[in-house]
Amino acid sequence: MGLTPRVGSTPTFGMISPVAKRIGILTGGGDCPGLNAVIRAAGRRSFQRGYEVVGVRDGWRGLVENELEPLGPREISGILPRGGTILGTTRTNPYKLEGGVERVRETFESAGLDALVAIGGEDTLGVATRLYEEHDFPVVGVPKTIDNDLNGTDYTFGFDTAVFIATEAIDRLHTTAESHNRVMVVEVMGRHTGWIAVMSGIAGGADVILIPEQPITVEQACREIQLRHERGKDFSIVVVSEGYELTYESGERRLVTQELATDEFGHVRFGGVGHALGADIEERTGYETRVTVLGHVQRGGSPTPRDRVLATRYGLKAADLVAEGRFGRMAALHGDTIVDVSLAEATAELKTVPEDWYAVAKAFFG
Ligand code: F6P
Repeated sequence: MGLTPRVGSTPTFGMISPVAKRIGILTGGGDCPGLNAVIRAAGRRSFQRGYEVVGVRDGWRGLVENELEPLGPREISGILPRGGTILGTTRTNPYKLEGGVERVRETFESAGLDALVAIGGEDTLGVATRLYEEHDFPVVGVPKTIDNDLNGTDYTFGFDTAVFIATEAIDRLHTTAESHNRVMVVEVMGRHTGWIAVMSGIAGGADVILIPEQPITVEQACREIQLRHERGKDFSIVVVSEGYELTYESGERRLVTQELATDEFGHVRFGGVGHALGADIEERTGYETRVTVLGHVQRGGSPTPRDRVLATRYGLKAADLVAEGRFGRMAALHGDTIVDVSLAEATAELKTVPEDWYAVAKAFFG
């Protein structure tokens, strides 16, 4: 669906315009709790300035295929606590489609848009970075992902909710593990980094945590569990990130994926390492082991209050960056302050779990 072009509208790339603006908003990549809170905040602040807001359907796909819809006060009313995204999302990468980037620019121009707020993670914002750098495209970013692996910001929104859900699951698994004297393996999300595993593992009192960026061996994990059992603890909780590569003392490494095919951003689909690890633990220790894969439960439902507040602050900041014409920037959290960083910095590398965070987790192993 196209939009009616604005009469006499001229896109004002890179400038503060005194005339009314038309602002597009898109949500791309995996959904996460808090997306609607950002849309609401960016929308509300833009309406206060007399700007028009347009929703882009399904991430970059909406700009490639000209699927836009008006987003007025009515559409964004009541969405603060709602999970998912009212705009829909996909992992469409215009750089992987024949003529994709040109179509993004055409849709943007023909709809009379002046600026775009892109809410996404490394992939969605990677596209935004390139569009800004290569075409002076007037875009600002908002850091979203349950994985918390975006550079340039202390926290992404969605992460707190995922950690909350994973922690609650660990708490529940604790009581059943204890009743049955079992090892419980919990597989959490985290494609490249172990932020969810480390934070929920610390919060839930995990006995071993395995993450992609600091892979302890399967043998080490088994030793920690055996040590616990020798000390009279007959049950253990093991948290593993989906992106952890099974690592053995022999030097062998094994990445477990659901399928080898990759998406448009080159990512394989994870899921299953928990079962492989559970089988290894049972075989090596002889302790009865069960496995829970949390999967998309971590991404669904209402955001926590902390995520609602963070998403709201990010949405306001994004709208302000647009009003100031400060494109190529991303809203970010430094300490307790909302700042902005360049999209280039945010997408240059992933923010991995540093050693000192993992050391906190390790203090409670075994
Ligand atoms: O990047 C966020 C994330 O939830 C990862 O933790 C996970 O690997 C991936 O998305 C799953 O994506 P999909 O929704 O395509 O299954």
